[in-house]
Amino acid sequence: MNQERGRFIVFEGVGGSGKTTQIELARNFLEKKGLKVLTTREPGGVEASEKIRELIFALRDKNLIGPEGQMVLFFAARYLWLNSLVKPALTNGINVLTDRAHTSTAAYQGFAEGGDLDQILKVSEVVMEGVKPDAVILLDISPETSIKRRAAETNGDPFDKQGEDYFRRLIAGYREMAQEGWGGLKWYMVNGEGTIEEVQARISEVLTQIFEKG
Ligand code: TYD
Repeated sequence: MNQERGRFIVFEGVGGSGKTTQIELARNFLEKKGLKVLTTREPGGVEASEKIRELIFALRDKNLIGPEGQMVLFFAARYLWLNSLVKPALTNGINVLTDRAHTSTAAYQGFAEGGDLDQILKVSEVVMEGVKPDAVILLDISPETSIKRRAAETNGDPFDKQGEDYFRRLIAGYREMAQEGWGGLKWYMVNGEGTIEEVQARISEVLTQIFEKG
């Protein structure tokens, strides 16, 4: 009675890249193919991690926490989320689509906030043991699009309030990670510019590739 393990797919990108909309469309696309799908987000996804999310946001908003402190808290939230939600779902053959994962810690706390990327990679190897994502789908947009789309949002996210330089570092960091396959992961860079339908079509192609690989 060997059940096939679900696939673990991370959606990545800066604020305003459209992850939250696209992840739900991706879920519909896969469910129509008869697959079992769970969508979740980081930091959060389970009650304890949502509490850590509030704490990180409050501390970061008041500039009371640097990249190392943020990293530790993001990984604490991640550890709880992986063990109570992600691992059991994957074992039960459910495909997990997540809005962000440890790849965000590399982009934000590493590239944008100046934290130590090697250290982030080492901690992720410990915390992510046995649950390495099968794919990372990066929604790539320009700094200009990110600024424009975020201006329309008010979500209380302290990272979204940072200036243009911060977002340029983030976007460059994401592109570099996708090119080098950061974390030994399989990255797919998808153009996130254009209409929701256009981006959805690009993501559906990538999902088909991922799921056809068997
Ligand atoms: P969220 O509202 O989910 O943002 P978005 O809609 O942009 O995905 O807030 C998550 C914020 O936390 C986001 O700005 C990125 C940041 N973050 C990190 O800095 N490091 C991390 O490891 C994670 C998971 C998120």
